[in-house]
Amino acid sequence: MSEATDSPNISDLLWEQRKFPPSAAFQANALVSETHLYDIASEDYEAFWATQATETVTWNKPWNTICEWKSPYSKWFIGGELNVAYNCLDRHVEAGNGSKVAIHWEGEPGDTRTLTYAWLLDEVQKFSNALKGLGVQKGDRVNIYLPMIPEAVVAMLACARIGAAHSVVFGGFSSQALADRINDAEAKVLITADGGYRRGEVFPLKPQADEAVSSTPTIEHVVVVKRGGNAVTMHEGRDHWYHDLMAVAEPVCVAEPMSSEQLLFLLYTSGTTGKPKGIMHTTGGYLTHVTYTHKYVFDLHPETDVYWCTADVGWITGHSYIVYGPLSNGATQVIYEGVPNYPENDRLWSIVEKYKVSIFYTAPTAIRTFMKWGVEEPQKHDLSSLRVIGSVGEPINPEAWMWYHENIGQGRCPVVDTWWQTETGGIMISPLPGVTTTKPGSATFPLPGIGAEVVDEKGNVITRGGGYLTLTHPWPGMLRGIWGDPKRFQETYWSKFPGRYFAGDGAKLDDDGYLWLLGRVDDVMNVSGHRISTTEVESALVSHPSVAEAAVVGANDATTGQAIIAYVTLRGGASVSENDLRNHVAKEIGAIAKPKAIFFTPDLPKTRSGKIMRRLLRDVAEGRNLGDTTTLADASVVTELQKRAAESNED
Ligand code: WTA
Repeated sequence: MSEATDSPNISDLLWEQRKFPPSAAFQANALVSETHLYDIASEDYEAFWATQATETVTWNKPWNTICEWKSPYSKWFIGGELNVAYNCLDRHVEAGNGSKVAIHWEGEPGDTRTLTYAWLLDEVQKFSNALKGLGVQKGDRVNIYLPMIPEAVVAMLACARIGAAHSVVFGGFSSQALADRINDAEAKVLITADGGYRRGEVFPLKPQADEAVSSTPTIEHVVVVKRGGNAVTMHEGRDHWYHDLMAVAEPVCVAEPMSSEQLLFLLYTSGTTGKPKGIMHTTGGYLTHVTYTHKYVFDLHPETDVYWCTADVGWITGHSYIVYGPLSNGATQVIYEGVPNYPENDRLWSIVEKYKVSIFYTAPTAIRTFMKWGVEEPQKHDLSSLRVIGSVGEPINPEAWMWYHENIGQGRCPVVDTWWQTETGGIMISPLPGVTTTKPGSATFPLPGIGAEVVDEKGNVITRGGGYLTLTHPWPGMLRGIWGDPKRFQETYWSKFPGRYFAGDGAKLDDDGYLWLLGRVDDVMNVSGHRISTTEVESALVSHPSVAEAAVVGANDATTGQAIIAYVTLRGGASVSENDLRNHVAKEIGAIAKPKAIFFTPDLPKTRSGKIMRRLLRDVAEGRNLGDTTTLADASVVTELQKRAAESNED
């Protein structure tokens, strides 16, 4: 941003006073209810992580060095050997838990499958052998492009079992996005399906895969799972039905010990500019990080809990908190194939009731959608099984947090707002539900073993107010680089504040030392020299009882540098005037943050993982042609807003 700034730091406008300590009833059964993990970790974080690695993961060979840190590269548990699939499956079966349910799978049309740990182990061994039969070897890359079906989990674990790295591409991405990712990773095999269910219809995947593979010279074989039942063309010699391969696959594939730093997977993140980055994650450190965080952040009691994360396996949340964390911990979980409003807006709550879900993990975008649909939907169901509820993916506005707490958690369940990234591998900043007094909208504190600080523009540490979120020392699940692009790795994360990992997010600290995430710093607005975070203005808007969701951007303005433009979605049946809302913002956080204009809209433009795309709204507000829209979930939303912006300019 080029404008002169009076105060280079991000302003601190929002003041949230409500506090929620863990209840005595929750603490009585919690895995941790005291601060000892923090105390131990702050003395020696490496030793702390070594303890977690010993307690939560089974190793074939112990490591000789906990951590080697040659900035920006870290290695963890060097010399150690383990197999991730063994940790997620075999060890539970060996412990006598083979008949335990690993996955209650619910298809969108209502068909169900109940899968035990023993079944998963058999299936993964056979598919590992099938992949070997197609020539896949340790070190190869395998692409996965599947709907939310159990075979996605099987495919990932089979890769892990034989040491091939998977690269999962979200099933909603186009053939071009798939081709780009396959070519960057130089994958040998693609695993896809005929199609999957979404909003009551079959969406075809195989035709997309065919189109992609026509421009991916490295792909030798395509494996096709039958799910949608839609007609597909199979290419002789290249394409194989999953069920045909499985019918003849050998049943035993011994889990080969892998080095701790063996590449486990690549996962591409698009970011706002440039080509997608292939984020690299390895074996021992990653598994330790996700197993430990899944256990403590959700207070997991694997004997009794039923866990459900609503993410797609195509995102990091699906990798870490559907596949690797929960299975490594031997949890029982729900996986749901489809959308939350099929056949009706209460589908998720009917699933919670049906499977007696006790831990529920979703995204703010979903929570704000539930607010829009109204409290009647959850009220149709018995949600008394819930114990802990979590949030991830965007800052959660205090009012959305309160709605979640009251209407889903029924005032009883601790809310864990978890901050992390594809790059961090696992959760970094979050409450521990039996320990932390939460404040609505704050991710609270770094977890034991994690170092996070807020710094100003010059990199000086600040202890109060707004700035830039940085991570101060390596952690086991951290990315090991960007596939094929070490220079970009260095520049993106390590150049702004030397010696620190810069996450790209703004954050502030309050008087009690609580961390509040302020959104991507690229989105920060500059109004008359004040740097204002979009998150705080959006939260002020969402705190109005009529508002479900808001997106705020800074548009060029001759007088103030940038002017605040807001796009607002109302709660079902509610209405409010533009002026009332502007005054509400002024009252909540100050006149400086009053939007210059507010547009009401039934929907906001979002990425396919549900994050608001403010960059596009900025283009709309400034009357520019839209840049890259390929990551947009529903392009018609912006076209509609553009039309309305053009009309209002003519007025
Ligand atoms: C944002 C998702 C505020 C943040 C796991 C981060 C959050 C980006 C939170 C990473 C949260 C994620 N509060 N912001 N609890 N969780 N974010 O790679 O901007 O899809 O940098 O990983 O999401 O998104 P990613």
